[in-house]
Amino acid sequence: MRWANVRYLYKMDVRARIEQLREELHAHNHRYYVLADPVVSDREFDALLEELVGLEASHPEWKDPHSPTQRVGGDLTDKFEKVAHRSPMLSLSNTYNAEEVAQWVERVKGGLPDEEVEFVMELKYDGVAISLWYEQGNLVRAVTRGDGTTGEDVRANVATIRTLPLQLQAGAPDPLEIRGEIYFPWPDFEALNLARREAGEQEFANPRNTAAGTLKLQDSKVVATRPLDCMIYNIDAQTMSGAEVECHSEAVAMAKVWGFKTPEGRRLEVAQSVEEVMGFVSHWNEARHRLDFAIDGIVIKVNRYDQQKRLGMTAKSPRWAIAFKFETERVRTELKSVRYQVGRTGAVTPVAELDPVQLGGTTVKKASLHNADQMARLDLREGDMVFVEKGGEIIPKIVGVDRSEAHGEGLFAPPAISFPAACPSCGHHLRRKEGEAQHHCPNRIDCPAQVMGRIEHFISRKAMNVDGLGEETVKQLVEAGLVRDVADLYSLQKEDLLPLERMAEKSADNLLQGLKQSKSVPFERVLFAFGIRHVGETVAKLLARALGSLTAVRQATLEEVTAIEGMGPVIAESVTTQFQEEAFLQMLDRLVSSGLQTEVIVKAPVGDAMEGEVVVVSGVFDTMSRDEAKAAVTAHGGRLVGSISSKTTMVLAGENMGPSKLAKAQKLEIPVVGEQDFLRRIGNI
Ligand code: IVH
Repeated sequence: MRWANVRYLYKMDVRARIEQLREELHAHNHRYYVLADPVVSDREFDALLEELVGLEASHPEWKDPHSPTQRVGGDLTDKFEKVAHRSPMLSLSNTYNAEEVAQWVERVKGGLPDEEVEFVMELKYDGVAISLWYEQGNLVRAVTRGDGTTGEDVRANVATIRTLPLQLQAGAPDPLEIRGEIYFPWPDFEALNLARREAGEQEFANPRNTAAGTLKLQDSKVVATRPLDCMIYNIDAQTMSGAEVECHSEAVAMAKVWGFKTPEGRRLEVAQSVEEVMGFVSHWNEARHRLDFAIDGIVIKVNRYDQQKRLGMTAKSPRWAIAFKFETERVRTELKSVRYQVGRTGAVTPVAELDPVQLGGTTVKKASLHNADQMARLDLREGDMVFVEKGGEIIPKIVGVDRSEAHGEGLFAPPAISFPAACPSCGHHLRRKEGEAQHHCPNRIDCPAQVMGRIEHFISRKAMNVDGLGEETVKQLVEAGLVRDVADLYSLQKEDLLPLERMAEKSADNLLQGLKQSKSVPFERVLFAFGIRHVGETVAKLLARALGSLTAVRQATLEEVTAIEGMGPVIAESVTTQFQEEAFLQMLDRLVSSGLQTEVIVKAPVGDAMEGEVVVVSGVFDTMSRDEAKAAVTAHGGRLVGSISSKTTMVLAGENMGPSKLAKAQKLEIPVVGEQDFLRRIGNI
């Protein structure tokens, strides 16, 4: 009886602590992301967050979708609920020049005779529209535009966006509907594509589509790894009437106080005349190239709500707002030639070499041609004058040929550039799989381009990080026949290196030293360095931690790999197929014998923090495999048991612990300890 009371009191304390942490973290988030004025260090913040994660894991009964911990991605949604919009999500009519803007201004003034009209201009964010619903200050729904009348509730995914408050600051209207645009900032988009390139995966074409695709992902944990952002642009006028705000620009300022990220500085301005509006437009038409996110124009709105209301709307768009769309910048230049790049996975990509030209603030020398179909559509010839555009994409593309500049007729016409039948690197006949757009060189083992690509990936910074070995040396080594695969690197001798161009005694020593040092690179990075398709840095880490050793990865079946957290059938297929390839396995044996790391090193924790505990380990953990968790329990004096009984004193619970187990633990009042809490108890963090 006494025990139960103590436990009850303890529970109440924990509950209060959880609430306190949530409140503090919400406030810190607001200061950090919105006010850009943090009062604690990142470290202090992380410590608070971890404490909360730990407590929530041990007390799943107090889980709260509004908790700051939910930023890491919560529930698995398998379909999205359809939700009717409270008011339709309209689109805007477009204008393309000053004259059209002037005509719209006239129409507005005609609709508001004898009234002063003030305009407000904002950037037109190139992303995905979202309607955010808050009740009692909590984000309860995040609804996509859908068909304008009905959208889908993607709240779990939107909740991962760090610049969006899950809980509003005090004083915000209740309920509140607020709309904005979710977008993928350029630097994060580029980083994502780099990771995909390294994993041998298809890169995403542009940030807008990637943002849209990301919002529809089923697994919000994946969404949480993609740093989306959200800017607010529309606050329901009805709501604002309660707050005694009379115009859009004031409402935006209020939204900032409630905790939202809103445009600042020159990103939102008011104007009285067409000239001022156009001044804003031309400033941003040029300055947009320096923004770290994409915009496709400017939105011009009538500022005052009462005037907006009187102007009303047409079936499709409001009369009180209009978009000015920027021209996609397009330049004309000469196509010098087409080069074919063979990647490490054998994919062949045509790249157009151009006469250098200025476009969107950078000099463009190359353009992507994607694949053979795209080339055939364009019917290209060397020397053609082509149009190049850089729209929402990072890599400029050829959108057409200037046919007014004929490239000769009949016999004098240069031949159309056609996709080669043979690999430009090894001469093997190229293949194109049924239904795929890309050509592949099937000569995996000997194709110099693929070999070089694999070696370059293997030695790269995030993989084996071999100092003293650059692209040029790799090329020489491969061409001289000294290196045919990555395993050959480790049998290189100084006398092999010295005859190479620009290879002095010192640089040879450095290279050999770099290779030697790479032998201590941890196993997860070795696994990444193999360059297996779909196995990027993150997947490699997950695989290594789940399976523990190269031997285990080698032997893992398709089902076993699929069952690992974070893996899917495509990755599993790629991994298991790779580990069946005879030549690859032989190469692996040679690599292993040269002494690379082939096992995950677990810090051996020794102590007595688990003394007297009878522990059931269940679920999946983030930083350790289940076997490692068990080893840590025993290493700290705990005793393991397989199932929960009245003798059990603790359940060490990872994610996905079965609900029946949880219910049983609760019924027997056995404390359920989360991963972070456990690690803290054994002094590992
Ligand atoms: S105001 C009635 N402001 O552009 C619609 N929209 O083509 C009021 N957009 O669906 C929209 N930036 O997704 C507004 N500063 C901004 C915007 C913006 C981007 C998007 C929005 C809208 C689309 C209209």
